[in-house]
Parts: sequence; C-alpha cells; structure tokens
Amino acid sequence: APTEIEITALIDRHLSLEGPLLPILHAIQERFGHVPANAQPLIAAALNISKAEVHGVVSFYHDFREVPAGRHVVKICRAEACQAMGANALADETLAKLGIAWHGTTANGAVTVEPVYCLGLCACAPAAMVDDRVVGRVDRARMTALLREVGA
Ligand code: FES
Repeated sequence: APTEIEITALIDRHLSLEGPLLPILHAIQERFGHVPANAQPLIAAALNISKAEVHGVVSFYHDFREVPAGRHVVKICRAEACQAMGANALADETLAKLGIAWHGTTANGAVTVEPVYCLGLCACAPAAMVDDRVVGRVDRARMTALLREVGA
C-alpha cells in the first residue's frame, strides 16, 4: 500500500489550487491506480473537510476506484446510443460470464469491468474500451475475443 508520505506529497502538490479535491483524487488514482482507504482521511484533514465528504466524491465519480483494478480494465459504455444498440444485454452477459458485478475483478486478477458513459464512439455503438483502446461495434463475438485477449 502507498505510504502516508507518498500520499501527503501528492496532496501538498495540489493544495494551492482552487477546488483541490478532484485534482488530488485524480493525481492519487493516476499514481496508485486507485484511491486507497488510507488516503481519504489524509485528504480530509488537509482540506479541512469530513472523511464522509471525501468518500462521497470518490464513490460518486465513476472514474475513481477504491480498490486496485485487475491487470486489464474493460469499460462498457452505458450511455444512450450504446444502450439503444444492446449495450445493457452485452454488459449483463459479460458480467455473468465472468461471474462478477460492475467494478468487480475476475478471480484470476486479469480483468476488471467498469461502466463508462459515452466514449465518443456513438456511431459505432455499442462501444467498449480495453485499457487505453476504444473498440466499436462490440457484439457478443467481439467481446468474447477481447476477453480472451486479456486473459479473462
Ligand atoms: Fe456509447 Fe457514445 S453512447 S459511445
């Protein structure tokens, strides 16, 4: 787990910003891949806000995760254009097949599945993202291939 010193250094770097909470959370997530539990009280103390407030923001934004992700992250678009093209069924099937819920990680640690709200690929719905790669027209066969690729 990241040490308090590492976390505090990241917090300090953003303290002078106006509205520093989101930039701090983004910096921590970028550095550690998630916002560790021990970071939240440190952030709260530094910004003079409650721990509940920090936790509320972390759980509200889909970008933040509270536990480390698997080796790969598959994001399935849940916004309107993709929903209209069957993204919900695709997501349900994918999660069921992997035996996880949203934000869950497969038992072998290979894949975490997260929702995302529009990848700008509405014309090629349903869309998904595998790590940094955006993929369009994800039908069942393509999803199966993607999952195989990342070792799910
Ligand atoms: Fe899915 Fe825009 S709604 S990419």
